[in-house]
Amino acid sequence: MTTHRDTAERADRVKGVEVHPTAGHIGAEITGVDLAGPLDDAVVALVRETLLRWKVVFFRGQELDHRGHVALARRFGEPVVLGRRGSASPPDFPEVETTADRLELGGRFGMEHEEWLRRRHTLLRGWHCDHGARIDPPAATILRAETVPPYGGDTTWSNLAAAYAGLSAPVRAFVDGLRAEHRLGVGYQPRPGDDGYVRHLLDHQVASVHPLVRVHPETGERVLFVNGYYLEQISDVSRPESEALLEMLLEQAVRPEYTVRFRWEPGSVAFWDNRATIHLAPGDSAHLGFPRIMHRVMLAGEVPVGVDGRPSEPVTGTEAGRW
Ligand SMILES: [Fe+2]
Repeated sequence: MTTHRDTAERADRVKGVEVHPTAGHIGAEITGVDLAGPLDDAVVALVRETLLRWKVVFFRGQELDHRGHVALARRFGEPVVLGRRGSASPPDFPEVETTADRLELGGRFGMEHEEWLRRRHTLLRGWHCDHGARIDPPAATILRAETVPPYGGDTTWSNLAAAYAGLSAPVRAFVDGLRAEHRLGVGYQPRPGDDGYVRHLLDHQVASVHPLVRVHPETGERVLFVNGYYLEQISDVSRPESEALLEMLLEQAVRPEYTVRFRWEPGSVAFWDNRATIHLAPGDSAHLGFPRIMHRVMLAGEVPVGVDGRPSEPVTGTEAGRW
């Protein structure tokens, strides 16, 4: 069992670096690290260890550019090279995906700006892991803030290993053997005359059957692999059974005690374990009209494995390792 004290002792071994947990089950701020500079192996090891223990780590006041962001990611894994990115993304850095709420006007999908904002902050938002419908969801995401609103726009994460551990023993045993279909664009219905984003999602389906309880490849922890964004249906049970189970499990997954909320500043970096967490993008900032520009680099992940050792299975869409 790792304790805060253990973490602090480890941090002491790397001069000037401190680890400050920010909530009871998830989140730690790491101070004394310049992510733009060359990182020595001891710092990388400490960050990795803290990430596995606290699921999301935060850094403030960083001066990363795109090149530095990608170089940082390479110290921890293989950056994903995206086949498709938003138009605000930097053309010279295919690993970097830029989200710019007030800049990306949805023109790509033929939407009016107001319509795009409405969708982005209602239908298309929810608790999710990044690219969770893929057969091999990313292992981690490193998100850095360039421009943020003066208030609003916080991101929240939840620890799915803690959520699993918090279930009663009989329910843990019950869900251990279940699997579920995750699908991109689940629940979205194209409306008459709608040939925009929803149509695009439905034409580019990505779906996989994942274990409902995933064994984390590094920590060995059991993780409640659920989210309200991709999860379509629990396999081999009826629709009403699936809905009732999902309602219970989703509520468990995002109970406030398993979460941490982060207030962004320019230069903030959040680095999360995408295999052990889900996160909630903010829904309280678009209407304010302030710009919010974020850059994301993801690390390639592996095919999830269940408690019984069975890996996930592809249904449709991208093959493992191919973006
Ligand atoms: Fe996300």
